Amino acid sequence: MIPKIKLFINGQWVESDQTEKVLNKANGEPVAEIYVAGLKEVEQAVTSAQRAFKREKIAPYRRYDILKRASELLMERQEEMALTLSLEVGKTIREARMEVSRAAQTLLISAEESKRIHGEIIPISSSPGNENRRAWTIRQPLGVVCAITPFNFPANLTCHKIGPAIAAGNAVVYKPASTTPIFGAKLCEIFLESGLPKGYLNMVMGPGSVVGDALAKDQRIDFYSFTGSTSVGLKLKNSVGLRPVSLELGSNSPTIVHGDADLMVAVEACTRSAFANAGQVCISVQRVYVHNSIYNDFCQQAAALAKTLKVGDPLDPTTDIGPMINEKEAIRVEGWLQEAVTEGAKILVGGKRNGPFLEPTILTNVHPKMKCSCQELFAPVFNVVSYNTIDEALAMANDSNYGLQAGVFTNSLDIASRCAEELECGGVIINDVSAFRADLMPYGGWKESGTGKEGPRYAIEEMTREKVVVLKLKGK
Ligand code: SIN
Repeated sequence: MIPKIKLFINGQWVESDQTEKVLNKANGEPVAEIYVAGLKEVEQAVTSAQRAFKREKIAPYRRYDILKRASELLMERQEEMALTLSLEVGKTIREARMEVSRAAQTLLISAEESKRIHGEIIPISSSPGNENRRAWTIRQPLGVVCAITPFNFPANLTCHKIGPAIAAGNAVVYKPASTTPIFGAKLCEIFLESGLPKGYLNMVMGPGSVVGDALAKDQRIDFYSFTGSTSVGLKLKNSVGLRPVSLELGSNSPTIVHGDADLMVAVEACTRSAFANAGQVCISVQRVYVHNSIYNDFCQQAAALAKTLKVGDPLDPTTDIGPMINEKEAIRVEGWLQEAVTEGAKILVGGKRNGPFLEPTILTNVHPKMKCSCQELFAPVFNVVSYNTIDEALAMANDSNYGLQAGVFTNSLDIASRCAEELECGGVIINDVSAFRADLMPYGGWKESGTGKEGPRYAIEEMTREKVVVLKLKGK
């Protein structure tokens, strides 16, 4: 008997009249059945969040206690949660454990930030005529935050939305990806136990065309935090009018490996990161630009390392790469690889598919207009391209509709500093790959990679409103 996962509305587990199976991504067997929300349940979830927010404000010290407790409860259940992630996403058990501990950290950082939400004193009397006035700003919660999360990091990316939303004092309506909703349901259990007042967290599962659209139209929602594809993000932005959104979208992230870099370190970091989570990471290493003086050595060493990586059962602790989210996605990437080869690219290593499993693949002779280069691969594949000058590398790295993060390997301060200033993206990681992320840092893209910033402190800024207060003193 597989577990049946209900919707979570106003602190209660709720059934709907439709269910759907959640599959084990490695073998296709059902691991759970979820109740799918319709318009009625979406309406109830938003009503519940709005009522909770109006009924009771949660003081910052209570938000801290709730989030800290949730972080502890998550770590107490780490092994169970990691197993859930491994089954529902297909990520390796090692990656799943790491994600759970990152998610717990994200909740803890959110807890800490909940105590640091403050306005500022405005020196209003420094402008003539305002000697008898005082002014300051306050930051207030928005009301109802809608969190829409993707399949690739159901734990940490969910905590990156729910953590700051609660830290800021908002109520949440949360829609997990339909393919990976089990972790989210367990997180609702945790928040129930951690003392979050009922109605402050509501979870509705279901297709974007019904649940997502209904959420986007509901005028009682004050803010949308979305991670997913550029096309869906744009559709959401176009339908919410003047209400604010934070969009964490796709990328085809570049990493530059300069001639003076520590080659072994760069090879190891690029290769392992490109294949982590089967490459299904928004900042995954996709385009690697290597100085021509070390290009051949880089390719040889990266190919040798890729060949040692084990693809297979995600629950086996020796596995390095699990399946992609489904066979359809793996077939899409296989098609892109075939197209690239027809257009002149060479597969240095990998390229074969077995169901949803794709071998770790490295491409060379790639042209910027090939899909494998200019679109987001979201797969265990990366391209290696050589360059002669750093100007050339920067031009190629910036030749993209996306701009989330970039990596640079160099021992030169001048080159590092030029790259930091000239790369067109939200984050530049020096002496590591584009895929590096510490959960407290600002995270968000330029161009078609999105708008707004995550990282609890920065998300809290977006999930609060700043108001100025001016006091006119009497008798002055
Ligand atoms: C993402 O895929 O956007 C998240 C990457 C991460 O948090 O490591």
